[in-house]
Amino acid sequence: MSREELTKIILPEEKLPKYYYNVQADMPNPMAPGLNPKTKKPLVPSDLTPIFPMNIIEQEVSKERYIEIPKKVREIYKQWRPSPLYRARRLEKELDTPCRIYYKYEGVSPVGSHKLNTAIPQAYYNKEAGIKRLTTETGAGQWGTALSLATKMFDLECAVYMVKISFKQKPYRRVFMQMYGGECFSSPSDRTEIGRRVLREHPDTPGTLGIAISEAVEDAVQRDDTNYALGSVLNHVCIHQSIIGQEVKMQMEMVDDYPDVVIGCSGGGSNFSGIAFPFIPDKLKGKKVRLVAVEPVACPTLTKGVFAYDYGDVAGLTPIMKMYTLGSNFTPAGIHAGGLRYHGESPLVSQLYHDGLLEAKALKQKEVFDAALLFARTEGIVPAPESAHAIKAAIDEALEGKKEGVAKSIVLNLSGHGHLDLVSYENYFSGLIENVIMSEKEIQDSLKKLPVVE
Ligand SMILES: Cc1ncc(COP(=O)(O)O)c(C=O)c1O
Repeated sequence: MSREELTKIILPEEKLPKYYYNVQADMPNPMAPGLNPKTKKPLVPSDLTPIFPMNIIEQEVSKERYIEIPKKVREIYKQWRPSPLYRARRLEKELDTPCRIYYKYEGVSPVGSHKLNTAIPQAYYNKEAGIKRLTTETGAGQWGTALSLATKMFDLECAVYMVKISFKQKPYRRVFMQMYGGECFSSPSDRTEIGRRVLREHPDTPGTLGIAISEAVEDAVQRDDTNYALGSVLNHVCIHQSIIGQEVKMQMEMVDDYPDVVIGCSGGGSNFSGIAFPFIPDKLKGKKVRLVAVEPVACPTLTKGVFAYDYGDVAGLTPIMKMYTLGSNFTPAGIHAGGLRYHGESPLVSQLYHDGLLEAKALKQKEVFDAALLFARTEGIVPAPESAHAIKAAIDEALEGKKEGVAKSIVLNLSGHGHLDLVSYENYFSGLIENVIMSEKEIQDSLKKLPVVE
């Protein structure tokens, strides 16, 4: 069918990719090595074995372009993958734009977001390594839900530290995790040393992903049968999410189209890298495709942060990584896109952004919610507030195309639905959504505390 006719672009099950794509094979400049947080020397595999299984560590450092997806993982993916790519026809009409807008809908996964794409292989590799229990952090709750289901599928236990502000804003997330057997704790909690310290020093903190990560890592290192799983940032997570962009490329071929711009929201960078990285080889060969990461002005990691070595968490338990960062002690305002409240950015996204292969844009909370409403009222899907950042950026591109009379092809990653974010939308309807902008002074103060690395 021609691109003029199709609205729902569906790949048959046999087109589910057999390999993950690893952008490290194609990067013009390799990312800087991660450092051991204690010695500040380049990481060696044994630094990571207390929290990750060897097969994940191998992926973390792999330079292989393609990494085979295990058969068991592919079988599970088939429940919702390949995910649909939709043409946003009613949104286009409403905007009266000559542009073509497509959205890759990751909300069709059983848990409602892209996070299951990496939760499944992470649970699989840990099971293979003989691990019995996984711990993790979660911002918006999407990742904790995904890991709770994935661990259940591989008969593992799961403990989730959920950032306090999201725990309050999204009460049903905890119940969702419980449905799958995951235990969910508000972070900072009194279960860990770091949690108790933060509670003593800042009893009213809304919590941060950096604190929740410290708690989950502290929990994991104390038990031999327990590992830690991260839902974003690290290379192996970006590798697993590459399944999204690989499918998009095949789907765009089906309608004889190719994107001028590919857009994803960015917290730690996993859904954005997932949709964008498979386009990097084309871009390096001269294709004029723009790859745009979208973040909140309240946590402007790429647009206002610095490219420097920093910790991934508050307590300094994670490796030190060279990435765009706002400082690991930074507490972003309690915006409703909880999954975008992370001080750092994937080192792979950071390096490619630094090298000019990626673009970034920061948006205000209120305009993002306006865009979410327009999307719900045209396309019918209630987006997660995180994903709504990509929607707003796509709308801006489409309106710019209209103004300039250019019929661009725009693809966005609709990383998840917002069915459990209705409290946030209720606040929006009550006029309680504020534009929180991080000031230059806050940024400079926070950056003063970066670790000193030779
Ligand atoms: C629906 C959704 N989209 C995006 C994100 C941001 O994470 P990442 O940048 O790793 O994709 C989150 C994080 O929780 C999320 O829940």
